[in-house]
Amino acid sequence: MPKPFAAPKPIENRAEQFGAARELARAEISAGLRMKPARLSPKYFYNALGSKLFEAICLLDEYYLTRAEAGIFARFGGQIAAAAGQGVTLIDLGAGNCAKAAALFEVLRPQQYVPVDISVTFLQAAVAKLRMAYPDVPMLPVGLDFAESLRLPGEVRGSRRLFFYPGSSIGNFTPLQAAQFLTRVRGEAGADGGLLIGVDLVKDAGVLEPAYDDALGVTAAFNLNALPHANELLGSDFDVRDWRHVAFYNAEQNRIEMHLEAKREVVASWPGGARRFAAGERIHTENSYKYSKRGFVELLESCGFGEVTCFTDAHEKFLVCHARAV
Ligand code: AVJ
Repeated sequence: MPKPFAAPKPIENRAEQFGAARELARAEISAGLRMKPARLSPKYFYNALGSKLFEAICLLDEYYLTRAEAGIFARFGGQIAAAAGQGVTLIDLGAGNCAKAAALFEVLRPQQYVPVDISVTFLQAAVAKLRMAYPDVPMLPVGLDFAESLRLPGEVRGSRRLFFYPGSSIGNFTPLQAAQFLTRVRGEAGADGGLLIGVDLVKDAGVLEPAYDDALGVTAAFNLNALPHANELLGSDFDVRDWRHVAFYNAEQNRIEMHLEAKREVVASWPGGARRFAAGERIHTENSYKYSKRGFVELLESCGFGEVTCFTDAHEKFLVCHARAV
């Protein structure tokens, strides 16, 4: 019987261990709340409840992104594996429950799987399950805010790295930030590496807006949940009932914007700060950029990628690209 792989210790985010991450989060949240207009980063959607709400969003009729992307992976898995090559080191950025990458294991047959996410605790549970289903795939979960740093532990195999960045997560960056991020990924991928990335395509506001303002109000709850999360981290006193969810397509900037709008005058306080919001004043919580196929391929090429292979669904709602480091 083959010897099972020893479960490597997850790499903890050092800042998390020393509570410095919380200090950083406090500083970032309070700085954003003081700005005019106020901002709160979309990363604060994802506490335990927020992650569940996002999973629920992915099941909504209106939120086509996840299904369209899964359909592309299912339909073009063979071609994707042909482009990427089998036996790669699969580095999953924002792995979460690891389900998207796991669906590709069969075709990609990775030599190592490296799921990366901010919360290593959530990752560990997912990886524990995954190890039972795929005992032959060595897995190395990494707790890292990869938007800040892409420094991977030495145990990550160096050769033929395939970075996996699905779900249109790239859309949370501005196009300039996206270019900077992709350039760093290109650097980490090395000469024989690649990138498999999913991005939402520009389309009619009549399709985009309901995806971010669904009939059941799940996205509204997801957006509003950033307030109790901020309260927990910052010690602020936001009352969800004072705020409403606002989402619209900004066609000039090719992005969905999400905001929280004060229903009435609000004075929010936290240790070391306070802010008055007039009725109707907003906190900008998310941008979700949409790309054209051509624009996205050009972006990849400007960041040192080439030989871009594109895959899309029958309705051209979503785009998956494989690109080689060149
Ligand atoms: C996880 C950033 C891809 O922008 O579509 C879903 C987040 N926000 N509904 C997206 C989100 C509102 C999602 N991303």
